[in-house]
Amino acid sequence: MTTAEVAAPAAVAAQTEAEAPHVAPAASLIGTKYIKMPANDQALAEEADRAPVFGVPERMRAEPGRVPHVTSLAQYRAMWQKSIDQPGEFFGEHARELLSWNKPFTIAKHGGFEHGDHSWFVDGELNACYNCVDRHAHADPNRVAIIWEGDNPADGHVEVTYAELLRDVCRLAGALKAAGCKKGDSVGIYLPMVPAAAIAMLACARLGLVHSVIFAGFSADALRDRLMDGKCKVLITADEGRRAGKTIPIKRIADEALYEARSVETVIVYKRTGGQVRMIGGRDIYWDDALKPHRPYCPPVPVAAEDPLFMLYTSGSTGKPKGLVHSTAGYLLGATLTTKYTFDVHPGDKFACLGDLGWITGHSYIVYGPLTLGVTTLMFEGVPTWPTPDRYWSLVEKFKFTQFYTAPTAIRALRRFGSEPVEKYDLSSLRVLGSVGEPIDPQSWEWYFNVVGKGQAAIVDTYWQTESGSHMITGLPGATPQKPGSASLPFFGFEPIILDPHSGNVLQGNDVTGVLAIRSPWPSMARTIHGDHERMMSTYLLPYPGYYFTGDGATRDKDGYIWVRGRVDDVLNVSGHRLSTSEIEAALVADEMCAEAAVVGGQDELTGQHIVAFVSLKPTNVPEKDIPTLLTHSVRRAIGPIATPKKVIIVPDLPKTRSGKIMRRILRKIVAGEVDSIGDVSTLADPNIVQVLVDLFQGYKK
Ligand code: WTA
Repeated sequence: MTTAEVAAPAAVAAQTEAEAPHVAPAASLIGTKYIKMPANDQALAEEADRAPVFGVPERMRAEPGRVPHVTSLAQYRAMWQKSIDQPGEFFGEHARELLSWNKPFTIAKHGGFEHGDHSWFVDGELNACYNCVDRHAHADPNRVAIIWEGDNPADGHVEVTYAELLRDVCRLAGALKAAGCKKGDSVGIYLPMVPAAAIAMLACARLGLVHSVIFAGFSADALRDRLMDGKCKVLITADEGRRAGKTIPIKRIADEALYEARSVETVIVYKRTGGQVRMIGGRDIYWDDALKPHRPYCPPVPVAAEDPLFMLYTSGSTGKPKGLVHSTAGYLLGATLTTKYTFDVHPGDKFACLGDLGWITGHSYIVYGPLTLGVTTLMFEGVPTWPTPDRYWSLVEKFKFTQFYTAPTAIRALRRFGSEPVEKYDLSSLRVLGSVGEPIDPQSWEWYFNVVGKGQAAIVDTYWQTESGSHMITGLPGATPQKPGSASLPFFGFEPIILDPHSGNVLQGNDVTGVLAIRSPWPSMARTIHGDHERMMSTYLLPYPGYYFTGDGATRDKDGYIWVRGRVDDVLNVSGHRLSTSEIEAALVADEMCAEAAVVGGQDELTGQHIVAFVSLKPTNVPEKDIPTLLTHSVRRAIGPIATPKKVIIVPDLPKTRSGKIMRRILRKIVAGEVDSIGDVSTLADPNIVQVLVDLFQGYKK
């Protein structure tokens, strides 16, 4: 398998789409507009079969006093089999062991995929914040819960103990109560990576409020839409943020969003920089002033296991982002169980997840998983390469992290600087290195393994989604031999199924490629889409009845290892960020200059994919040379800098069928440089447009 194929799955091979004329759209494809599947299954399977295998590093087996939670493939298989055959018993036992309950559950599992009423531990009651904070603050108040490292190394770091965390969480909970929040209300959190963000999430959990964290890189429009859809009553935000030395005007962006998001009655503003911001009387209050009147203890509110813990917006196949709703007990168990087993976490560990709280990775592996286990977790405000490309490694040496979890895009960026910035530091505390967000190319995998881990730390390539809440496919550090580029084997409770995308038939056995589905519900699976259960059903549960449809393509190789091939729908993965092509297209056509737009992913060495927009224009007086910049600005305004197109190509027309349907397949071929395999274009209204587009794209590249 080559780097290019793993890094840019959309470009893997010839694609078959539901829209291609010779393929009848299968009834099972509800909700997915395009199915892009690698055509040459056999070649993919053979390449997977040739992959090298790396055994479990010796150190994982031999370190005195520290036996991995799972020490062999046989032990993993036995546990996995039980999780599949007796899920209620398996997860019930772990839920009793890992979580503290106010009221024990007697019913472990209820419902299923048919109606989307999958639920776990239904008659139990608990509080997520109590599990993450109180019980550790009682047992060991001075243990460090959060290490915060600022953007600029000169900012230094802050350590927050469990006792301090409890006091701050309680004070903020007091402030939220004073703002009139009651169990079930939703609270928006739009904060940079500061401990206040974790405190805000936990304070909501303490009161049974549903938090909705919105990534601080989203624009005012994107924030507004999410606050309005979530009906947030309070927004917790900051004056400004800092990233790579730059200042981000967080409050100003929030103010713009709040102009229309009228459900928000109170805004709590955390002072990150102390910069001047506008405060609106009766609505805005500084964090310190909001917390000051409240006692540093307030009791946690027990909630039902199935009460929602949070919603988190993610991009889907349509322009409208969806607020995935996660449950309290099932989610918390999934996050905690995977933190324990995938990262082989033991008491006293220091866990470094370099994600952001604005995404699911931060929810599960910065806050809920590590804190439920009572270990120390890192919150890093900065970026890996600023001011110097050794930022991550200096942190590992400084704090002696035992686990390190990042995305392939960061690994690729750091690898470009060679091994010298890594070798300056003692990284021998690292036992487990994690990768998440997209398939990791084998070259970066080996660099991670050999240069960062010195061959002594296990790598876990964790495949999962916002929807899954926690890892679905991953190796276990003490048990699973690794094949670089493969997420390897299913986590407990997951039975991966490979389906033929068009017939929906299950592809049995090994050496098969198709779309990836999961056979039965797992505890941390999202319960619904906020306000739209029908969309939950049509996106995930109805396309292939009886299964959860992941939206990804995958190969199962001869050893049963899973190779995730990337999205088969119109979701792009740019630097591990999930972006919807439809959302970007909607942002483009909202601009009055733009008549039509089609967005496809291009292959990118650093970011995995990048955004290529083809646009046709309405009559306009704006000089053509300025248009790409202006349209790029429109996208940044509607979504945020993460959705910045790399290329905006002005075209006389898009490739359309006579009925007006845009054939993105053709654009993807042009962008991938696979012009020869575009195939039949006779169904296009104007087949000559293809050559025009090819020339324009070539010209653009030059
Ligand atoms: C992709 C991020 C291959 C996949 C946790 C999935 C991966 C989407 C991996 C979810 C991996 C995530 N190997 N692909 N290890 N991890 N993906 O919701 O396409 O932001 O569907 O969750 O990222 O992205 P999300």
